[in-house]
Amino acid sequence: MAATIIDGKAFAARVRGQVAEQVAVLRTAHGIVPGLAVVLVGQDPASQVYVRNKGTQTVEAGMASFEHKLDVATPQAEILALVARLNADPAVHGILVQLPLPAHVDAAAVINAIDPAKDVDGFHISNVGLLGTGQKALVPCTPLGCLMMLRDHHGDLSGMDAVVVGRSNIVGKPMAQLLLGDSCTVTIAHSRTRDLREVCRRADILVAAVGRPGMIPGDWVKPGATVIDVGINRVPHPDDPARTRLVGDVDFDSCAAVAGAITPVPGGVGPMTIACLLANTLTACCRAHGLAEPTGLTA
Ligand code: GUN
Repeated sequence: MAATIIDGKAFAARVRGQVAEQVAVLRTAHGIVPGLAVVLVGQDPASQVYVRNKGTQTVEAGMASFEHKLDVATPQAEILALVARLNADPAVHGILVQLPLPAHVDAAAVINAIDPAKDVDGFHISNVGLLGTGQKALVPCTPLGCLMMLRDHHGDLSGMDAVVVGRSNIVGKPMAQLLLGDSCTVTIAHSRTRDLREVCRRADILVAAVGRPGMIPGDWVKPGATVIDVGINRVPHPDDPARTRLVGDVDFDSCAAVAGAITPVPGGVGPMTIACLLANTLTACCRAHGLAEPTGLTA
């Protein structure tokens, strides 16, 4: 039987709608407008697209968007000074410094200079530690989006075998922590894992986050499993090498023939990332003002 296709585009639109509703309540009941500041250093084309989309969707949700575009050669001290100003600005509830940063900048130093209460990426060491110890954190957006889709599809995840392929700080590790928080039995697999196929075949939930196009074929998937494809890889188009197309880390057709449910690329996990960024900004704003947190939008 063919897998259910988990429609991340539609799900993300629903999340953005929920955020917008709650932002409208904040504005009318409390006169508060959540604000998200994005810092972009340099002109990386992919980053410029992300930042533009973030700005548009932030405004559509009724929030304030502050964009700071800095020259690629901006000294680290200047970036840190901007972060300090944003930390102190009461109109700013969320701060995102777009990665990657230029090579002369110590990315960890910049990320860890962000006020953890405004760290809507969930990359600050305090938020990493809070998540790792099961305390209230701001959680990285992409894994949060994956968790929301999994909860929506399965309801309770308790006791399920989850395998996360990839151990990045941005996706693999926080994804594993979130699944553990929902009482899955979690394995993190990576490039040195022995017999990766057999490890993957144990998974009720298989999350692929390695950045290698189509690396997981259908015969690595347990029949009926849920496959979450975090990969966004640009490859030459098979019909026209002058064009490119986006593919995930799983081989969609062969995996969809075996899985119970699967996220497509594009239109799966990708749209959830910005939706969760907006959700995190709303959460940070509610916490900053001592108000009840939005329901259904946090880990
Ligand atoms: N670059 C690509 N994705 C992201 C993201 O989610 N957050 C940040 N800060 N930079 C990114």
